[in-house]
Amino acid sequence: MKTNQYSGFHKLTMEQRAMEVAEFSNLTADELNTITKPGALSDTIADHCIENVIGTYQLPMGVAMNFIIDGQERLIPMVVEEASIVAAASNAAKMARSSGGFHTSYTGNIMIAQVQVVGVSNPYFACQSILHHKKEIIDQANAKDPVLVKITGGAKDVEVRVIDTIIGPMVVVHLIVDTGDAMGANAVNTMAEAVAPLIEKITKGTVKLRILSNLAAYRLARATATFSKEAIGGESVVDGMIDAYAFAEADPFRAATSNKGIMNGMDPVVVATGNDWRGMEAAAHSYMYYKYGKYTSMTRWEKDDEGNLTGSIELPIMVGLVGGATKIHPGAQTAIKILGVKTAEELARIIAAVGLAQNFAAMRALATDGIQKGHMKLHARNIATVAGATGDVLEAVVDKMIADKNISVESAKDLITRM
Ligand code: MEV
Repeated sequence: MKTNQYSGFHKLTMEQRAMEVAEFSNLTADELNTITKPGALSDTIADHCIENVIGTYQLPMGVAMNFIIDGQERLIPMVVEEASIVAAASNAAKMARSSGGFHTSYTGNIMIAQVQVVGVSNPYFACQSILHHKKEIIDQANAKDPVLVKITGGAKDVEVRVIDTIIGPMVVVHLIVDTGDAMGANAVNTMAEAVAPLIEKITKGTVKLRILSNLAAYRLARATATFSKEAIGGESVVDGMIDAYAFAEADPFRAATSNKGIMNGMDPVVVATGNDWRGMEAAAHSYMYYKYGKYTSMTRWEKDDEGNLTGSIELPIMVGLVGGATKIHPGAQTAIKILGVKTAEELARIIAAVGLAQNFAAMRALATDGIQKGHMKLHARNIATVAGATGDVLEAVVDKMIADKNISVESAKDLITRM
């Protein structure tokens, strides 16, 4: 495969698709086996990963096509159980192509570790005292991780806040750390624990929690895309999608569903690359409240001067390429190679673009035919495949079952025999 714009990719057999992906991403036979053969995650690795291990568990990995992100063609590996997601992402990416695809940016691999201090009688004074000792605190944090300091500079800054709580005012210290290509949880938690005694000494209070914040407000990935009105079905589709967006922007009940659709795109890439999808989700949802003061849509959709649809997304995305399951899961390593990313930044930027694409696809479907039509087609394709249909027969069986409103393995088998 020379380009990721591969018409009819879904019609290939699983093996043929895998071979095309291997060619596009230069996978070795061993790398390909980590995806195509069961047991890539060995019992030994699994047993050391979590506790009380009794085995491993598989999910399908699909590949979304057509993505151009910052001028580069990318194949997007997606590990997920829900039908339609991979097809919808590919379709959205195809529609973005004529306007140049997705453009992204990133604010840096910056994590926040929180240190909670209670029992401080003069919290505002204590905050200033902490800032007077900023360098000492940073040096102490960095002493814990000379390797990280060498690569990124490690801890860079200290921020302080007084928050009102049900047990009275509390001092909260934030350590600002550049964790490089690691997601960084371990590094920042270790640093937070290391500086606790010094913070107690400075504030004369008692340190309680020392833990990262999932609201990684300085680790933002952003993506934008323009969808030309011609590519997406005309100005009435653009207007319908703006109406759909207005609903999600205003109503938390709708925003929750719209944002779930965004996670439909982002989670599968986070899972495929062995990253912490719970952390990514917590960051994304909490950022809505942090930035907008309410729970609202994670994307923004507008119409440009020519009547085209423009979309944007900005979210904290904490993912890494070193440490954790990313490094030890052979399938995750292969997913990273399929993506062709060399840094955590590249990965985060791609994930933002996929989230935007996924939201576009869902909103377009909802604003036009509704989502059931596309779901039905995929459902029919799954049923026809189970019944043994392949190639052109498969497509014909799918169309006929939809036209007859009779989607079942029996009807598919009957049609196959007759065709
Ligand atoms: C289904 O998994 C996701 C959608 O509900 C998202 C949305 O409503 O925007 C289709």
